[in-house]
Parts: sequence; structure tokens; C-alpha cells
Amino acid sequence: MKKFITTPIYYVNDVPHIGHAYCTLAADTLARYWRQKLGKESVFFLTGTDENSQKTVDAAAAAGEEIVPYLESMSARWKNTWKNIGIEFDDFIRTTEKRHHKTVHAILNKIHEAGDIYKGKYEGLYCTGCETFLKPSDLDENGHCPDHKKAPKAVEEENYFFRLSKYQDQLLELFTKNPKLLEPEKRRNEVISFIKAGLEDISISREGAEFGIPLPWDENHKIYVWFDALINYRTGCPNDEFWSNTLHLLGKDITRFHCVIWPAMLISAGIETPTEEFAHGFFTVDGEKMSKSLGNVISPLDLATKYGNDAVRIGLLSLFEFGNDGDFSQEQFHDLYNKKLAGGIGNLFNRVIVLIHKFLDGQTPEWAPMNPENEEWVTMVREKQDVQNDLVLFNQYMEDKSLRSAIEEMFYEASKANLLLNEKEPWKLFKTDPKGATQVFARLLFHLKTIAKMSEILLPETAPKMWKMIGDEKRVGEAGILFQRAEEG
Ligand code: ME8
Ligand code: MG
Repeated sequence: MKKFITTPIYYVNDVPHIGHAYCTLAADTLARYWRQKLGKESVFFLTGTDENSQKTVDAAAAAGEEIVPYLESMSARWKNTWKNIGIEFDDFIRTTEKRHHKTVHAILNKIHEAGDIYKGKYEGLYCTGCETFLKPSDLDENGHCPDHKKAPKAVEEENYFFRLSKYQDQLLELFTKNPKLLEPEKRRNEVISFIKAGLEDISISREGAEFGIPLPWDENHKIYVWFDALINYRTGCPNDEFWSNTLHLLGKDITRFHCVIWPAMLISAGIETPTEEFAHGFFTVDGEKMSKSLGNVISPLDLATKYGNDAVRIGLLSLFEFGNDGDFSQEQFHDLYNKKLAGGIGNLFNRVIVLIHKFLDGQTPEWAPMNPENEEWVTMVREKQDVQNDLVLFNQYMEDKSLRSAIEEMFYEASKANLLLNEKEPWKLFKTDPKGATQVFARLLFHLKTIAKMSEILLPETAPKMWKMIGDEKRVGEAGILFQRAEEG
């Protein structure tokens, strides 16, 4: 089995913030799970940048830069940010690349040949912030776009249209029959009611636009940015085997593009629709929407510099269950780091390894069954099978994309081990019952291995250090600090 995992391709009119990092880290985490399960070659993780957008052209102009070098440098910043925070993508696509233009033309030609494109007159409102057409009913009480707080532009021009309305019944059937096509369920229901309310054909080109990909049959028109952007997933997909197991991750703000326009484009072009899409929620920062004007935009790089990459991953993905909305606060993040990572997992590893050096001279304890006559022992000090069950549950959470639950399972594993350590006090027990104490160590070590296995997915930079501390069948490694406690502020 192959697995193709994608994130949205981000607009480069600005630098990445932790909202973008959230989706990219989720995709990276799922990719690591599937690589662990299926092998490295069976997983392909694609991310990239969306560059043919009018708002980027405007941003370059505002910065007094030429568009092409602006795109180069901004796209590189996004790519480097992901690399710097420990994201391992298999490919990074830019929609200004030749390979993408080729795919876009091939797919547009197919849609054209299918008779799904016609020329018409467009009269309406366009919001550059959203890169989408709005209806008067979409606007707020000031006549502004509710997301961008700006009046949309009135547009009147000859455009090419895509016959989206033709696909209404097919889309409805697709989403009703395949619950996986869009998760969580609340999002699928929204899309279903949107389709049921009736689909209109959409304008897919702009005459005389200065930047973008021209239509293959009419050079005077540039392709509407969303129509080109969605196709990135095809450009970046290595082959059909991967395509037949595609998972698109996206934010709930862009489900209509991904779940209405995209599948219709694919059906029209005779291409298989995606297997799974997952729309995650949005977070606010201290209760407010993240925005430049409020000055509360948080850079993932700043957080990573202070707390490390693994902490950023855990801090964001454990905020709320994947699919829900929630809030981010620096204070909570700081607390989580000190309590759960430095205090919980880090301290546990260090203590156990220090104790094994002290009492067993660094030798790896061999696992033996506990004396079944001692009931308290048997419930307290679990058997190998039970410990392995913890991974079964963890893996199930990863399959379900319940990333927060998977993280909690890892923390739970650490708290069970800490409890065992504190209740059994093997440093005292050793004097009266060295065999018993050795078995406590054997079980503690097994908990550490379980945590290290989970960490290959959730704490990828720390996991190798953990395995080094755990050592081999003969000896454990050196003790050490996995997470340095962070100072306030
Ligand atoms: O929409 N909380 O790109 P974009 C959680 N180029 N996630 C957030 C977030 C927040 N506060 N803010 C942003 C585009 N996101 C198009 C996509 S795909 C063919 C084209 C994340 O740069 C979330 O995943 O505006 C959202 O969908 C994405 O950033 C939008 O990024
Ligand atoms: Mg956006």
C-alpha cells in the first residue's frame, strides 16, 4: 500500500505563522506514522507554495520588489521554515514551476474537451484576500468581506466559466456514500448542505490579469488562482499508485474549494477523486484571531528557538483534538513544556537510567514474570502484553488522525511509569528484594521503549536520544537531560 499526504499550498504574501505550522506539522506527524508502518518508500508527503495570486503581486509591489525574485525569496522562506522546525516533506511544489504549468494545461484541456467550459460575462464582487468571488449575502453589515474587513472589488468582464452546476448530483452522491471523503462529520454535513442548496457555474479566468498561468486556448486570459492551485496535488503526486490513496489535509476555511470545486474538476477531467480529506479547525491566540493589525502573530521559528522543534509540534497538536477549534496561549505552552516534556518524560528517562547505573551497574535488566502470589505486585507491575497494548491504542489514534489523543497516550505512558517508580521505590526495595527491584527496572525500561517508539512519530528529534539512553540488551546508555527546563517569559 502507498500513501500520499498533502497540506494546502500556502500563499507567499506573508511569512508562515503557527496556524500554517499546525497543518504542516499534523501532515508531517501522520507521514511519520505511515512511514513507520508501511516503510519510507511507501509514503509521499507533499507541501509547497501557492504563487499565482493577485495578493502576492500586490505584496511584492508594496515591498517595492519585482514579482519573480519576490516569489523566489518568499517561497524559500517557507521551505526553510518547514525544514528548520523538523518537517520532512518528500517534495515541495511551487505553482510557478514549469512542471506545474504542464499539468495545469493538460487538465484544463481535458475539462475543455469534456465540454465543461464556456465563455460568459461575469458581473460581481471579488475579494483579493480570499481570492474568491463573493455574493452580497456573504458580506458583513458594512458591505465588507467578513474575513478581510475590506470592500470587495466590483468586477465586470468576459470570463471563461466551468460548469460546476453539472456535477451537483454526482458530488452529492460521492459525499453521501463516502464518509472518509471529508472528515470530521460536521464538515461533511456542511459541504452536503452547500451542494444541496444548489451549485452555480464558476468563473475560472481573468482577462488581462498581469500574473498567472494563461489558458491553453486563450493566452489573453490567466487562470483563476484556485483553479490552478488545486492542481498542485496532481503535479506533485509521484504516480497513480500514490494517487489512489490520497489524503488531503486542509483548514476548515477552504473545504468548499477542496470538496466541491476540486472533485468536480477531477471528474470532468476523468481523474479519480481523492480518497480522504480532513478539514482541521482554527485556533485563536489568547482568544483573538491572529492578525498583523493586532500584532499577535506568532512565528513557529521563534517558538522553536526557545523550546525546540519537538515542543512546538506537541504544543500545537495537543491544543485540542484534530478537527476542532481552540485557543493558543504562550503561558499554557510554557507550562506544558515544563510539566509534561521536561518534568514528565525528560525527568523519567533521566531518573530510570541513573538508577539502573547505580543499582544494576548499568546492566540491562532481563524481563521475568512477577511472582503471581503477590497480588499487589501483579496489578502494579504490569506484564509485557499489557504494556504492548498501549501501542495498539496509540496506533489506532494515529489511524483515526486523533493526534491529541495519541499525544495524551504518550504522556499517560510516562505518568504510569512515574507512578510505578514512585510507588515501588526500587532504590529502597533493592535492599530487601533485589530481584523484585530488578523487575521494576525491567518494566520501567519497557515503558521507556514504548515512549521512544511513540516519539519516533511525536518527538522525532528526541527519539534517537531516547534510544541511546535505553541502550541495548546488555547495557543502558548514559543518563541525560532530554528537555532543559525553560525560564518564564
Ligand atoms: O488558503 N489555525 O493558503 P493560506 C489553524 N493558498 N490553521 C490555520 C490558521 C489558524 N489560525 N491560519 C491558517 C490558502 N491556517 C491557499 C490554499 S491549497 C490548493 C491552496 C492554515 O496561506 C489552515 O490549514 O491562506 C488553512 O487552511 C491554511 O493555513 C490556509 O493557508
Ligand atoms: Mg488564507
